Amino acid sequence: MTTTELSDLERHFERTIEHDLRVEPRDWVPDEYRATLIRQIAQHAHSEIIGMQPEGNWITRAPSLRRKAILLAKVQDEAGHGLYLYSAAETLGADRGELTQRLISGKQKYSSIFNYPTLTFADVGVIGWLVDGAAICNQVPLCRCSYGPYARAMIRICKEESFHQRQGYELLMTMMRGTKAQRQMVQDATDRWWWPSLMMFGPPDGDSPNTAQSMAWKVKRHTNDELRQRFVDMTVPQAEALGVTLPDADLAWNQERASYDFGEIDWSEFKQVLRGNGPCSAQRVAHRKRAHDEGAWVREAAAAHARKHREAVAVA
Ligand SMILES: [Fe+2]
Ligand SMILES: [Fe+2]
Repeated sequence: MTTTELSDLERHFERTIEHDLRVEPRDWVPDEYRATLIRQIAQHAHSEIIGMQPEGNWITRAPSLRRKAILLAKVQDEAGHGLYLYSAAETLGADRGELTQRLISGKQKYSSIFNYPTLTFADVGVIGWLVDGAAICNQVPLCRCSYGPYARAMIRICKEESFHQRQGYELLMTMMRGTKAQRQMVQDATDRWWWPSLMMFGPPDGDSPNTAQSMAWKVKRHTNDELRQRFVDMTVPQAEALGVTLPDADLAWNQERASYDFGEIDWSEFKQVLRGNGPCSAQRVAHRKRAHDEGAWVREAAAAHARKHREAVAVA
């Protein structure tokens, strides 16, 4: 490619971003844009897939048929989200098998939140309310991401996330109308999940070196701290309506900022979990690896079938 051709392509890419149009798989993109998106979409896909485990743990022990049906549907949705996202990564030239390999070898990360245990059924409700709630805050702006396949996948994913959030909140409302022990379970789960939920937005802006470039490419539309603040402001009134206390003595309405102030996040815990030292990190990855190994025969059978089909078509 000549230098003029390359600069034409670069200009076209920049114009696409500038005019808020979508970049599509056939378009030329800078190598760093491609690498950044593959990394982000893969981490997102891994999070959806690993995220099935904490709640999947409760499917067989759901307290009623209705709760089991809801939970099963939700966990299946997460599998679907993972699959859309791996497909979006493939449009950038990534290989799905390789991405899975990177996940189970610990080379690629997933959201730190899924490394915490689910101790009671109230955790299912609190995950829907807080974890899916935080995911919505993070993901709604991604529906306007500059990369078309990712943005379009996010539209459907966000619709399903909003069902996840509501089923969680409805479960908690029901438990709060129940016995004292049930109300305590909800409070205990809220205490355990609140801070890890705030960590889901990633490190503070001052400590997030890639944010500026991602914002310039319109992959990211808001900084980590902006999204975290939005989540806190949205969630405090929900906690009040529910009748639970958020475990933060510094949480207070700030009239001037028209937002809630909140306490300091324990970033050392976040870093520990990201390094793979979360309470369930080893278990989550080992479980994913086992599922992948046990599924080898399915992949082989599908590949053999596809080969036979191709040969039959070639003969005909
Ligand atoms: Fe999801
Ligand atoms: Fe979800």
